[in-house]
Amino acid sequence: MNLILLGAPGAGKGTQAKFIAEKYGIPQVSTGDILREAVAKGTELGRKAKEFMNQGKLVPDEIVIGIVKERLTQKDCEKGFILDGFPRTIAQAEALDKIMGEMGKEIDAVINVNVPEEEVVKRIVNRRICKKCGAIYHLIHNPPKKNGVCDKCGGELYQRDDDREEVVRERFAVYKRSTQPLIDYYKKKGILYDVDGTKDVEAVRSEILSILGKIKA
Ligand code: AP5
Ligand code: MG
Ligand code: ZN
Repeated sequence: MNLILLGAPGAGKGTQAKFIAEKYGIPQVSTGDILREAVAKGTELGRKAKEFMNQGKLVPDEIVIGIVKERLTQKDCEKGFILDGFPRTIAQAEALDKIMGEMGKEIDAVINVNVPEEEVVKRIVNRRICKKCGAIYHLIHNPPKKNGVCDKCGGELYQRDDDREEVVRERFAVYKRSTQPLIDYYKKKGILYDVDGTKDVEAVRSEILSILGKIKA
């Protein structure tokens, strides 16, 4: 299954993508995670991306498209994949269509997770992430058992550099301007599925699973 998870910052893309990836045995391809890893390692890509990310702006299309093209042609994506945070512009969506065409593949479904701005701000400012395994926590909705420590691997929890409120507001504005047009883009192709992302993690998960069940059949 080749899937896209669409949604505002903090909509729950990463949370749900990890679950779907595990359940279907397909890799989660998160451009945000790939870019953050490059920043942490201080590679050339990371140096280029860091400033855009910390301001809540999009990293230029040609950089992200190159990353995704390379990633999707790796062997573990043969059985399918779940894109989290890509595409984010019409140019990226068109480039993805081209990449898929070259590989003789298609996107099967685009899951659009809907959450309003005030809710995403509340979610993001209370988010914590494991440095070691990437597990996602929320200080109120999904707190770790021990303060600052990952339940799954004992790793240290941290707050992303771009998770300050003013940057989150900018990320949301960028989402509305550049990414929201993708909803129509995929609606026209007949592969868009809307999900109410304001429900709790489990409820959103089962809504997505029921959609995927119908697609597979
Ligand atoms: P990216 O890392 O993709 O960030 P984002 O899109 O802003 O999304 P987030 O990761 O913040 O949110 P999420 O939807 O994954 O939510 P999560 O599950 O963590 O991108 C970061 C930056 O990289 C961009 O700003 C840009 O600079 C660059 N970039 C990345 N991709 C790019 C591209 N394609 N083109 C150009 N630039 C690109 O959940 C959030 C919180 O809410 C967590 O605390 C979680 O525990 C909690 N939560 C989740 N679900 C629920 C629920 N149902 N109820 C209550 N709480 C919940
Ligand atoms: Mg994410
Ligand atoms: Zn961990």
